[in-house]
Amino acid sequence: MIDLRSDTATKPTLAMREAIANADVGDEQIREDPTVNELERRAADILGQEDSVFVPTATMANEIALRVLGEPGDELIAEELSHILIAELGGPAVHAGLMTRPVSAGTGRFTPDQVRAAARKGDLGHVPTTRIVSIENTHNGAGGRVWPLAEVEAMAETCRELDLSLHLDGARLFNAAVASGEAPAAIAGHADTVTICFSKGLGCPLGAIVAGSSERMLRARRYKHQFGGAMRQAGIVAAACVYALDHHVDRLVDDHARARRLAEALHEAGVAIDLERVETNFVQLDVGAMGIATADASERLDGAGIRVSGTMHPGVLRAVTHLGISDEDIDHAIEAIPRALGAQRLPEMKNATATPT
Ligand SMILES: Cc1ncc(COP(=O)(O)O)c(C=O)c1O
Repeated sequence: MIDLRSDTATKPTLAMREAIANADVGDEQIREDPTVNELERRAADILGQEDSVFVPTATMANEIALRVLGEPGDELIAEELSHILIAELGGPAVHAGLMTRPVSAGTGRFTPDQVRAAARKGDLGHVPTTRIVSIENTHNGAGGRVWPLAEVEAMAETCRELDLSLHLDGARLFNAAVASGEAPAAIAGHADTVTICFSKGLGCPLGAIVAGSSERMLRARRYKHQFGGAMRQAGIVAAACVYALDHHVDRLVDDHARARRLAEALHEAGVAIDLERVETNFVQLDVGAMGIATADASERLDGAGIRVSGTMHPGVLRAVTHLGISDEDIDHAIEAIPRALGAQRLPEMKNATATPT
């Protein structure tokens, strides 16, 4: 089976397992794990922040960040298909008591004007105060799309102007950095808090980081403990994350190239794909537009040895490239997917270059 369901399907490589086996460890809860301490120092530096805190999952990192930035009754603005709003089981309400204010954007990238229109001052005595804006880069629900740096800067500027905090859910920030050619710090340095995740394209078994100012990270450590995320010899896992920073960031460019090759070949073979949406390691297959129900398409693809996953968009399936997917896997997928879906190659445009009369 070629598993294109998600970049979370990665398994630790042999070299990563060696790094895990050789990890220097201690009691993380009292900050005596040298490998966790090293990871936190390095991550803060890479993200252009003063400090960072190691946690098991990106969901916990997001939730801790929101708890640090807001108080119960405050309002959070985020894109309606963002992970924070649709995949954390109401965590912002449960853990931080936040009201959520969804805004929509097909690309996942909402605008400063949308924030201006939605943000409430709360000075009427009965209206909640908007305190936090959360952006997701890359944006999972939009198909792994990237926020251009200028748009991140404009959002940060607007947040400063409106006295709002900016959280960046950068579970796939390194994909965004590699795709846009920007340093991670150039993007993440604009946010008040940042999440990164190691268990996706970076190929680790688990692990995430929440980063921000020293003062905010002091509070983040308290919430981490309160949320049950303070660990013991966590260097066993952090060693994989340190290894991934050294060896699995630059190679994301290969995942992006494979996704692009897959998308272009499938498009040419008649599979409904909007090539403009393919910016990183996600390829969205619009099987609905081909007249096939997603459950039927998934079953046919399964039968052909290709696993894909559903999305929040009706009729759309997702194929994601990652560390466990080779060029040969892509060659195979390029053959198998159109055949399984009965795709019809688009008729060639005869005389397409002829001058119209
Ligand atoms: C954008 C985004 N943020 C956060 C998460 C949560 O990650 P985790 O499964 O590590 O909690 C995910 C997971 O898919 C994600 O795509």
